[in-house]
Amino acid sequence: MDKVIGIINGKGFTVGDSILELSYLLAALLFVIGLKLLSHPQTARKGNLWAAAGMGLAMITTLLLHKNASGDGIPLTNVWIIMAAIGVGSAIGWYVARKVKMTAMPQLVSLYNATGGAASALVALLEYPNAIAGDIASLTVTVLGLIIGAVAFSGSMIAYGKLDGKVGDVMKPFMTYINLALLIVTLGLGVYIIQSSNLPAEMAWAIYTLLALSLVYGIMFVLPIGGADMPVVISLLNSFTGIAAAMAGFIYSNEAMILGGILVGAAGMILTALMCKAMNRSLLNVIIGSFGGGGAASNLEQGTIKEITLTDSAILLSYSKKVVIIPGYGLAVAQAQHIAHELDTLLEGKGVEVKFAIHPVAGRMPGHMNVLLAEADVPYDKLFEMDDINTDMANVDVAIVIGANDVVNPASNDDPSSPIYGMPIINAHLAKNIIVMKRGMGKGYAGIENFLFFNDKTRMLFGNAKDTLQKLVNEIKSM
Ligand code: TAP
Repeated sequence: MDKVIGIINGKGFTVGDSILELSYLLAALLFVIGLKLLSHPQTARKGNLWAAAGMGLAMITTLLLHKNASGDGIPLTNVWIIMAAIGVGSAIGWYVARKVKMTAMPQLVSLYNATGGAASALVALLEYPNAIAGDIASLTVTVLGLIIGAVAFSGSMIAYGKLDGKVGDVMKPFMTYINLALLIVTLGLGVYIIQSSNLPAEMAWAIYTLLALSLVYGIMFVLPIGGADMPVVISLLNSFTGIAAAMAGFIYSNEAMILGGILVGAAGMILTALMCKAMNRSLLNVIIGSFGGGGAASNLEQGTIKEITLTDSAILLSYSKKVVIIPGYGLAVAQAQHIAHELDTLLEGKGVEVKFAIHPVAGRMPGHMNVLLAEADVPYDKLFEMDDINTDMANVDVAIVIGANDVVNPASNDDPSSPIYGMPIINAHLAKNIIVMKRGMGKGYAGIENFLFFNDKTRMLFGNAKDTLQKLVNEIKSM
């Protein structure tokens, strides 16, 4: 392993070094394969495992073959402490991931993201004293790693608090200006550190001030952002964590870290862009705009609500040709995915064609509905994306809206003053009949009225989605 087989940059390159480099290449390949598989629900679980295997491989070969940073060829020291830390971290991660409720998944993602950002910021902080004064390249990656990692950490912690209902919205317009000033000061200090020819030891005050400013900026940046925009912000912060990890990779000249970080950064950016598109908002609007409440709809004459009985619902559904189920956040809260699938199977048995319509931001996290329905073994070919189902909505006999609200709100088409105006929706209102299952007249995430519920073709079936669906299934069975 220690046999020198070549000289690179004046240093001996051993067999162990080449195995290490090869393992990093293989790890990067596994990350790419994992990402590709993650893009479809059917292969997502496998994708996670492939990517985790890549990370595992990189960690093991680093521990076994990496040399001390001093460049004197001495193996890593403190291996047992590192392994103990990995063990404790893995055990906590394993326990939390198994325990977490599906509805709390976004919070968990936020927390994990925060730890990634913190790790990268710590790497930058600890390695700063080893940076060479005047070396712009190494100082730039260190400073960027510190700023981006710290913003990702504190921002994700606030995002976690907001999603968990522990932190409320602070939507003060002047915060935009404070944030802008804070950002300029933070970046200015970063530039000062990078171009300074002082020794790192003399700049300790500056690097700790930069850390503090970045942490405060992360908090201030996320605080004013409305709850409904949180998934976009989490995805953005996730991308920040990836970029910060890539910077940490540059500090250590570690290809696996650089590539892994870039992949996470790019994936996060793409997801952010896709979600903004799904909500018809620009990223700037998400970051500095406020969201929720208002809209002319809240002031207009509402019309009357019509209810439907379980028996009438059962008859209507049994004698339909085409039924579309539109799940939303309420289905997740009620954990009604299994019984929704039972209704689907029951109706299919009666010759009814049943499809599920999936809105990209239904629920509280990207892919929320896909995950729930996959858990209930609903076949993937029954799940239709919004654009695919909308073209056929006018031919649908019954659209069943289960715990969805904003994603079927026609105000997004009709009411320019509505906060969700321009957000594409599933066109439930075009179906011949609409049955809405929810507990009462509670509003959705955007906090606005939904005129679909007052539509002439709409009938409300009030109650907890799981109980209502169970009763409906029993009713159809008894027919
Ligand atoms: P929402 O608009 O949040 O509406 C959910 C509805 O479910 C509520 O109106 C509620 O009415 C009903 N509900 C709650 N618990 C229920 C239960 N146990 N049984 C039956 N109904 C229940 O949901 P949506 O249509 O899925 O829209 C998602 C919203 O969240 C969008 O505004 C989206 O932008 C935002 N958002 C999305 C994400 C992502 S990435 N998916 C993340 C964060 C926020 P009742 O109280 O009357 O029952």
